[in-house]
Amino acid sequence: MQLTGAPTHAANYGSQWWRSAIIYQVYPRSFADSNGDGMGDLPGITARMDSLAALGIDAIWLSPFMSSPQKDAGYDVSDYRDVDPLFGTLADFDDMVARAHELGIRVLVDLVPNHTSDQHAWFQAALAAPEGSPERAFYHFMDGRGEGGSLPPNNWVSMFGGPAWTRVTNPDDTPGQWYCHLFDSSQPDLNWENPAVQLAFEEILRFWLDRGVDGFRVDQPHAMGKAAGLPDHPDVERAGAGFIEGEPSPPMWFQESVHPIFRRWREILDSYDGERAMCGEAYVLPLSFMALWVRPDEFHQTFNFRYLDSEWKPEILFRSINESFEAFDSVGAPSTWVLSNHDIIRHASRMGGVTGRPTASDGIGPNDPQPDRELGLRRARGATLFTLGLPGSTYLYQGEELGLPEHTTLEGKYRQDPTFARTGGARVGRDGCRVPLPWEAGVGAANGFNETGLAWLPQPELYAEYSRDQQEGVAGSTLELYKQALALRKSLRIGEGSFAWLPQFTNERALGYRNGDVLVIHNFGTDALPLPQGKILVASQNGLAEGQLLDPDQTVWIAI
Ligand code: NOJ
Repeated sequence: MQLTGAPTHAANYGSQWWRSAIIYQVYPRSFADSNGDGMGDLPGITARMDSLAALGIDAIWLSPFMSSPQKDAGYDVSDYRDVDPLFGTLADFDDMVARAHELGIRVLVDLVPNHTSDQHAWFQAALAAPEGSPERAFYHFMDGRGEGGSLPPNNWVSMFGGPAWTRVTNPDDTPGQWYCHLFDSSQPDLNWENPAVQLAFEEILRFWLDRGVDGFRVDQPHAMGKAAGLPDHPDVERAGAGFIEGEPSPPMWFQESVHPIFRRWREILDSYDGERAMCGEAYVLPLSFMALWVRPDEFHQTFNFRYLDSEWKPEILFRSINESFEAFDSVGAPSTWVLSNHDIIRHASRMGGVTGRPTASDGIGPNDPQPDRELGLRRARGATLFTLGLPGSTYLYQGEELGLPEHTTLEGKYRQDPTFARTGGARVGRDGCRVPLPWEAGVGAANGFNETGLAWLPQPELYAEYSRDQQEGVAGSTLELYKQALALRKSLRIGEGSFAWLPQFTNERALGYRNGDVLVIHNFGTDALPLPQGKILVASQNGLAEGQLLDPDQTVWIAI
């Protein structure tokens, strides 16, 4: 079977950095812990920044570090202009940015505008203020339905399980209004129709831009707008908290009203020197629809969720890559490519067989079928090399350069993701991909994450063998594979390059494409694959030499 119907993508050499950048996601809680309290911190990141420079990345995206009660690992912000003491101080932040810039690494910070923490001063003021007050207008407060308003105002459900509404108690102890939270009850949704909210965030953007950040990763921008009157989700039975692709947008997702907000943000970024950029976590599908978010005057990038969600199968990837170039090229935006992040099962485990869970954000628990580690790592290395050859910008998630698997046997007593508690453990949640990184095998119980061995989530025993020091300089290690590929990507300008399928490698056994003078081929079949002639630049298959066959699950880059 030959897969047909293919776009081409023209090279874009010399373009802005964000069009082709390798952006590495640092999850501060779990990157490196300088003070030994078991929680990663900003000085820990600064101290280890040179290892990121050695990896060959262009930028980091720093997951939340702002003040927060940590009910959703920092995605519940109580002060957008300060660093949570868990992670350090604003001075530590400045030092970290300075060190990154010294090493030529740009810094994007996570901005969470859809909701605040319930401990934010705005929400506390709203609780203390009467119904209909300007303070309440910062959020979505509504009267309940039914007798005495005892039922939620509509049928929306939370992404983390349970209703998307919580009822407040009035100062005189009588039951009051309800507030909307698309996530945890500790994360009330802001009312983005309110100009005061819009202005407040413009100042927050400037606060961080003035501190020298190179831009933002924007959390849940597609949730910020809500249809007027907050009507029922018309299809909550089928869609749950989400939406059904191709059907009209439910009242809480990707409303038209949000686009002027991002245009305004773009103007603000553009008014600063350098090329400041913002990436939207806009879960909007199909991609032709997502492309509206990266029109020239809106976001610079969005995460390519189509690629991330694609099963590792040739016909699915073929379609997803075609859809990506068609959609993003139509608005002159780069596609991004991503295989792992802090919300989904690490790809080294996801690709290792059945997860036993309906979605990758539901994690893998001790009672689920366990992935095949060897198969998962082999496929993950092949998948990464295949992905790194694509033109556009690529996101890496900390630890994937070590081939790190998910912690799949984490006991319930350690789990902190609100999903676990809100579903009574039915969905184990995302903690398994958030476990502290191993740096030096055998240094403390957490392998060099710190010296005390304390860790907010315990590492599985097998992490020692994945430690960075076990792979540094070791030919064939996953870390060296990443370094080699990233160095080639830079020297051959792969990220700015072109794309065209190789017709002889678009079938159920293989996918191959050409980027400039480089051929990238992945073997999806069960038999070894003959390769075209040319110099082997890099391969996930250790020791592969010219004239040899490419084994199943492996990828090679060949210069022609
Ligand atoms: C998306 C973030 O990536 C996730 O970790 C978080 O729980 C939700 N947004 C809510 O902020």
